[in-house]
Amino acid sequence: MDKIRVIGGRPLSGSVKISGAKNAALPAMAASLLTRDRIELENVPYVRDILTMRNLLEDMGSEVEVTEDGSAVLQSSNIRSQEAPYELVKTMRASILVLGPLLGRFCHARVSLPGGCAIGARPVNLHLMGLEKMGAKCRILHGYVEASVEKLQGAHIVMDTITVTGTENMMMAATLAEGETVLENAACEPEVSDLADMLRSMGARIEGDGGRTIRVRGVEELHGCRHHIIPDRIEAGTFAIAAAITRGDVEVENCNPKHLSSVLEQLSRTGADIESGTNRFRVQCDGPILSKNVTTYPYPAFPTDMQAQYMALMTQGDGDSIITETIFENRFMHALELIRMGADIAVEGRQALVKGNSPLSGARVLASDLRASASLILAALIASGETWIDRVYHLDRGYHRIEEKLARLGANIERVR
Ligand code: EPU
Repeated sequence: MDKIRVIGGRPLSGSVKISGAKNAALPAMAASLLTRDRIELENVPYVRDILTMRNLLEDMGSEVEVTEDGSAVLQSSNIRSQEAPYELVKTMRASILVLGPLLGRFCHARVSLPGGCAIGARPVNLHLMGLEKMGAKCRILHGYVEASVEKLQGAHIVMDTITVTGTENMMMAATLAEGETVLENAACEPEVSDLADMLRSMGARIEGDGGRTIRVRGVEELHGCRHHIIPDRIEAGTFAIAAAITRGDVEVENCNPKHLSSVLEQLSRTGADIESGTNRFRVQCDGPILSKNVTTYPYPAFPTDMQAQYMALMTQGDGDSIITETIFENRFMHALELIRMGADIAVEGRQALVKGNSPLSGARVLASDLRASASLILAALIASGETWIDRVYHLDRGYHRIEEKLARLGANIERVR
């Protein structure tokens, strides 16, 4: 199994190009199930989760071609099964995204329940509640959600927790329902708006995405489209922190700084100099890193997907900081590995007290999930000596060739096969 080896101590400098957003490309691929026509996607990141989604769609009968240059062509004219099997769903929770489109177009779906994962329980009760409000009968049998309906009906759905993939699932299902669906307390992440943009170019009638109330008026059928996926704001944020933590100077290109405003604002509070353009930003840091508290919330606030990386930065702050995680109940696994590298972090419930000024030293560490892996790489970039990061497959789920991108910025990093 691959490992990543890093020798810390070099400030990063230069420019890096950001890939397309994994969390926008996954629902876009699932949305291809809503039509028999050809769907062309551009700027799709060539990462493991995308290949898992390809395998899942192919398993159901879709024709899918994904290439490393960022293009994906999908056609679901001959679907022979409306089932997402456990073997695929257990490796990627986002497989649940096929539920809404399958139910919308075929009125039937059988999708394995994802179960918990390293960052929390992650139930799908709200996805089911929404689809039931639209008339579907959902039952759980042998670990699978079995859902069927004669024809989905528009409904007024109020979500008591903001859920990103839940909003996406309901929005996709509603595009082919009879009548109007109103989704209240919807997620307003840029990935939801990107999906809405794609669905509109397929002929869907959607308004209000990007806000908390989304209205979808169902149509008879959807057609093919070509759609360009938005840049990955979390990859961009990860490089921003890489620049700051190494006291470097990095230009982050092909991104949308507006999608990152809370992260860039937080970084500038910690002392980094940030200069933003329309599709690029530059992070420079040569002074002390200031310790600043942060709390994760749904978009547009500070994202949970940047919490682990920010924790690595705070180990180098000038004092104490408190990091509060409000989205997932168990998303501090990286703290234990950072401690093994010399960090001083006390976790209590949903809060972590991070002491700054901690010299880190290289160690053998285990990645527990995607963003945890990124935080260990960031820590390794400034640790003395050699760090070996194991279970790199977590990293490969969401970052395209991150070690090559970092090496081009001057990091001493390599993948060892
Ligand atoms: N929740 C429920 N019931 C539901 C659905 C969600 O209680 O039916 C709760 C969750 O347990 C959690 C909260 O709602 O406490 C928010 O979860 P959400 O549903 O928004 O998460 P998700 O849609 O499963 C997406 C991203 C995650 C990201 C979260 C939060 C994708 C494919 N995944 O997950 O990305 O952390 O939103 O922003 O879009 C990652 O990329 O590393 C990653 C984990």
